[in-house]
Amino acid sequence: MNEPIMKGVAPINAPSYVKHQKLIDWVTEICALTQPDSVYWCDGSEEEYDHLCAKMVESGTLKKLNPAKRKNSYLACSDPSDVARVEDRTYICSANKEDAGPTNNWMNPTEMRSTLQPLFAGSMKGRTLYVVPFSMGPLGSPIAHIGVELSDSPYVVINMRVMTRMGKGVFEVLGSDGPFVPCVHTVGKPLAAGEKDVAWPCNATKYIVHYPETREIWSYGSGYGGNALLGKKCFALRIASTMGRDQGWLAEHMLILGVTSPEGKKYHVAAAFPSACGKTNFAMLIPPQGFEGWKVTTIGDDIAWIKPRNDKTGQKRLFAINPEAGYFGVAPGTNTLTNANCMASLNENVIFTNVALTDDGDVWWEGMTDKAPDHLIDWQGKDWSPADGINGRKASHPNARFTVAATNNPVIDPEWNNPDGVAIDAFIFGGRRSTTVPLVTEARNWIEGVYMAATMGSETTAAAAGQQGIVRRDPFAMLPFAGYNMSDYFQHWLDMGKKLSAEGANLPSIFCVNWFRKDDGGKFVWPGYGENMRVLAWMLERLEGKSKGQENIFGTTPSHADLNWSGLDFTAEQFNKVTSIDKSAWQDEMKLHDQLFEQLSYHLPKELVDTKKALEARLVG
Ligand code: GTP
Ligand code: SPV
Ligand code: MN
Repeated sequence: MNEPIMKGVAPINAPSYVKHQKLIDWVTEICALTQPDSVYWCDGSEEEYDHLCAKMVESGTLKKLNPAKRKNSYLACSDPSDVARVEDRTYICSANKEDAGPTNNWMNPTEMRSTLQPLFAGSMKGRTLYVVPFSMGPLGSPIAHIGVELSDSPYVVINMRVMTRMGKGVFEVLGSDGPFVPCVHTVGKPLAAGEKDVAWPCNATKYIVHYPETREIWSYGSGYGGNALLGKKCFALRIASTMGRDQGWLAEHMLILGVTSPEGKKYHVAAAFPSACGKTNFAMLIPPQGFEGWKVTTIGDDIAWIKPRNDKTGQKRLFAINPEAGYFGVAPGTNTLTNANCMASLNENVIFTNVALTDDGDVWWEGMTDKAPDHLIDWQGKDWSPADGINGRKASHPNARFTVAATNNPVIDPEWNNPDGVAIDAFIFGGRRSTTVPLVTEARNWIEGVYMAATMGSETTAAAAGQQGIVRRDPFAMLPFAGYNMSDYFQHWLDMGKKLSAEGANLPSIFCVNWFRKDDGGKFVWPGYGENMRVLAWMLERLEGKSKGQENIFGTTPSHADLNWSGLDFTAEQFNKVTSIDKSAWQDEMKLHDQLFEQLSYHLPKELVDTKKALEARLVG
């Protein structure tokens, strides 16, 4: 690792391989503002990663796990106030308020800049400013976009190295004048001379700010996940969605998977589920008993960039790539029964955040094993025993996460890194709903599919700060991530469908799922996880025109006999519990659609209003 280059006088001494004067000038400017003690240009090497980890072990930010249990792996425990995305502190600062829309927080860009200026001024005192060059998408590929994050958090640096293509090679691609998205991040805890640092510096004041017109990101006060790893939600979703609107493509909160039949036919599916609602699990699905010869492979687990182009036969289709290089996944609930592929990904080279530490230097989280260990150190550093668990005190935080390279995944798709992407056959949208929404419905056409996605509701989870388990509308699972007006976003989906159809494109089918219906005792009725394969297989039959299904109010659904039940005892009665449509519950649900449409009335596409009327007529009919 290079020695940090001491600041003091401008210009900043960039390494000789950095040829981009505007970038150097910007780093100089941010240094003048934030006043770090030193500047370090990240090269992305393993040596650098190891060095930063060792430094953080020394400072108490990381614990090194027992290498016999988890090779080359670390545990970070955050400040208890900094454990998830902060949606109420996240802003889209477009010039016009209407362009951010009613679902985003907005402030005039000039006003936001003057709000942030005094916060960032001197915010990195006593710290090192790391220059983190990264590519979203394979380095140098035509679909990739480059960002540079300036951060005073070495935890951010090591996570960015896993989650993106980070390092020196990015400067080569940038050359002397290539475009990049500037991202400034500070934990907002300057150190006075001689002041001892804390293990997880952060600030009670937080701002996660996007300027879509100038494509800039400024993040203040948090070191956690989507607030701080700015390539992920801030860039690859919020900024990228506005780029997609302008350039005719889509940036979506979607997993991408490949599914191959025993006959060797391969399909690709992209699925949008809200945060902590099963994307990572679905993307790594292990086909259950009864599906011998089927294989599911992962292209991505959280974000998809989707662009139209012709395939080899000249057929226009939608192609998807995963812009990320790693997974920042939910730990609690993951185990060898629910997701053995995910567990296998976590054997080595992992950064864990906010899970519990075992006495033998390994990690544990709720749901990892049936029986908790007799003693743990919980995510807040306190002793924990199973009796605490019975009293409702959790050993790991519900939003505890792992950071791991995609290449750790034993079922990584051979095409995952292909800059051309994979042709999407179906889109799936799914919320977490304990009632009302049936297991699976296929939209009759693109517009009805867009309607289903637009009106999707889901119970809130620990992925964002705030109350959990509240049903809210989460259109396209993009409520926290759309970088522009939600109604315009719906229009963009409708326009894409219209344009592609006019060009003779083969449009993906659209399905809506809900794995989370509960019985009166509060238990999930649907077994979920690998068993979701049964639903996926039905969708593929639909694509092939092999299953008729039955039409209901909202679209086409399977009857019990339409699914392959081999290897699972799931009766028609149980099936009815996860597929039944309660008309009165749906009348209430439509009132929630009304509320959403009222909120989004500015620019709300007429097609969606018409679709709603038609569905309502079917509901009373
Ligand atoms: P983000 O990374 O926040 O965007 O979330 P994600 O959608 O990737 O969520 P993930 O797959 O990590 O799942 C979150 C939680 O849902 C975990 O606790 C899982 O155990 C649970 N889960 C996933 N799939 C299923 C399922 O099919 N049924 C049930 N009941 N729970 C599931
Ligand atoms: C989500 O909340 O949807 C995540 C985790 O994928 S974070 O990166 O923290 O946003
Ligand atoms: Mn996510």
